[in-house]
Amino acid sequence: MTLISRALKALRDRRRRKTLYSAACYWDSKARQGGAGSPASMWPNPAFNTLCEEEQREAVDALGLSLQGAMVLDLGCGSGRFSRYFAAKGAQVTGIDFSAVALETARSLSDGPNPAYVNLSLFELDDSGLYDLVFAAAALSVACRTRRELADALVRAGRALKQGGALFLIEPVHRGFLSRTLDMGLGEFLQTLEECGLQAKSVRPLVFWPARLALAYLPSPSVLTAPVYRLGRLLMKAPGLCRLGDYWAIKAALKPSGPRSLPAPAPPVMRHSRSADSPGQEGP
Ligand SMILES: C[S@@+](CC[C@H](N)C(=O)[O-])C[C@H]1O[C@@H](n2cnc3c(N)ncnc32)[C@H](O)[C@@H]1O
Repeated sequence: MTLISRALKALRDRRRRKTLYSAACYWDSKARQGGAGSPASMWPNPAFNTLCEEEQREAVDALGLSLQGAMVLDLGCGSGRFSRYFAAKGAQVTGIDFSAVALETARSLSDGPNPAYVNLSLFELDDSGLYDLVFAAAALSVACRTRRELADALVRAGRALKQGGALFLIEPVHRGFLSRTLDMGLGEFLQTLEECGLQAKSVRPLVFWPARLALAYLPSPSVLTAPVYRLGRLLMKAPGLCRLGDYWAIKAALKPSGPRSLPAPAPPVMRHSRSADSPGQEGP
């Protein structure tokens, strides 16, 4: 596929993102496109992906969690880049994803039982009180189409936590143009979190979105990509510009009252559908 046809395909997919991104076949197809070990949601510019991953890992490290022996759940783990990262730090990790192909890739990239990978939708998660850390990177915002689905996923995530455990999300939360599947502003997202029995402890922006739009789609060498990316990181520290983050790193904990009970089940959706067209190179 030429660069131009990839970009056009990405734009077509983007128009249909509300249905495409919440279907397993879309992520199966992206996992088949390769880039094993890099973000499942890889953009066409590898130099951009590397910088983005670096920034996201720094956000995880900044949590200051002791991961040695910790039980970690990675929701929508894709090809397992964060699952492997947590396991390398001594955690016992379970990654769940509804894309069987992404999980095949994840399994092929590790050489033992840790991380363990389970083919499961995050709307079917039923664990209770097992994990010190429940983590999701660009998973809730592509899986959930409505506030009700978000609440369903958050209640399940909260219920999977041990008391005293942490939920850490790195999610592109937006209303409008930058939104992925979930079209919701940060305020409403945080309010939903609260209603689900979770309390946000810290919220900070990651990945300056103007730089993401400028850099992600066209492969360019690191020597060009890195300075623009780093300038974006600096700019986001200026007063008022934190709103220009593409992702929000949100750390939350269970309220003392614990997770709310599950909302009434949402009507059936095409989460496991195999029928969507094959996707192109749209990012997460
Ligand atoms: C943008 S990718 C992120 C993958 C991984 N977290 C990372 O950062 O590399 C989104 C992932 O969420 C998964 N996903 C989307 N909806 C899901 C659902 N309902 N249940 C489980 N996984 C889901 C997709 O299969 C895909 O692997």
